[in-house]
Amino acid sequence: MKKDFLHVADFSPAELQSMLDLAIELKKEYFAGGNRPLLQGKTLAMIFQKPSLRTRVSFDMAMRHLGGDALYLSPAEIGLGKRESIADVARVVSGYVEAIMARVFDHEHVLELARWADVPVINGLSDYNHPCQAMADALTIQEEFGTLKGVNVTYVGDGNNVAVSLMHVCAKLGANFTIASPEGYDLPAAAVEVAREFARESGSQLAFLRDPHQAVAGAQVIYTDTWTSMGQEEEAKKREAVFPPYQVNASLVAEADKDAIVMHCLPAHRGQEITDEVADGPHSRLFPQAHNRLHAQKAVLARLFGVA
Ligand code: CP
Ligand code: NVA
Repeated sequence: MKKDFLHVADFSPAELQSMLDLAIELKKEYFAGGNRPLLQGKTLAMIFQKPSLRTRVSFDMAMRHLGGDALYLSPAEIGLGKRESIADVARVVSGYVEAIMARVFDHEHVLELARWADVPVINGLSDYNHPCQAMADALTIQEEFGTLKGVNVTYVGDGNNVAVSLMHVCAKLGANFTIASPEGYDLPAAAVEVAREFARESGSQLAFLRDPHQAVAGAQVIYTDTWTSMGQEEEAKKREAVFPPYQVNASLVAEADKDAIVMHCLPAHRGQEITDEVADGPHSRLFPQAHNRLHAQKAVLARLFGVA
């Protein structure tokens, strides 16, 4: 049966850890100038309903480095579910390429693609989650601390798609996950329930708070993301009134562990959820984290194709 990469929650801790270990190996090979042609003869179709820099470029380059190819299909070209049904797109594209990566508005749409495609489907972000981001995040944390087990990860801000996948990867791999979010912007209850189950198995501690100051006490990782995600633009003004107490600035970072690192999936809205001082300061890992998308996704691709 073909494999998809739709949620980190679908993978066991051992599978996730093994993907991270492969990512580290492939990253070493890349920096030593020795990419293996693991994906020779394979093409990835990349379907986007929303803009992207990191996801688009890192998947494209991951395919090229490993000897494969990638096709970018813009929102205007495909009209997923508008010009043509998702089921038809999935069945047609499956005959041309070996895998599909899709960035969609509605999570149901990536599930529908996966249901109908004969080839592996990778979720490149939906309104519910962002599993590829979470793999790069976990890789960044592992590189910094040697493990995720017992690392205190605090997410400050909107309980959004990025937060869901981060919580799940932390709960799977034994990192302690704390979130401080304002009322009305909590993580989806069902995603939290699932995380609690994973945490029971891994021993990770979960905490759901309102106060960002309380949340960063003892944090080794402070993570934030934009207050307004793609597709929520009409709420931007309302959100800008609610979220300022959740800004990750130098004084908040000073309340965390003294060696805490700061992470952000990017794009950042500097001056809103994060200040320039923090984004460009000594605690920031924003750019290594973005670069890790390349290495983490190589491992995801190699595993879906069963070639490493
Ligand atoms: N973090 C992330 O997914 O960035 P893009 O939206 O630029 O792909
Ligand atoms: N939460 C953000 C992440 C962007 C990579 C969004 O969905 O727009």
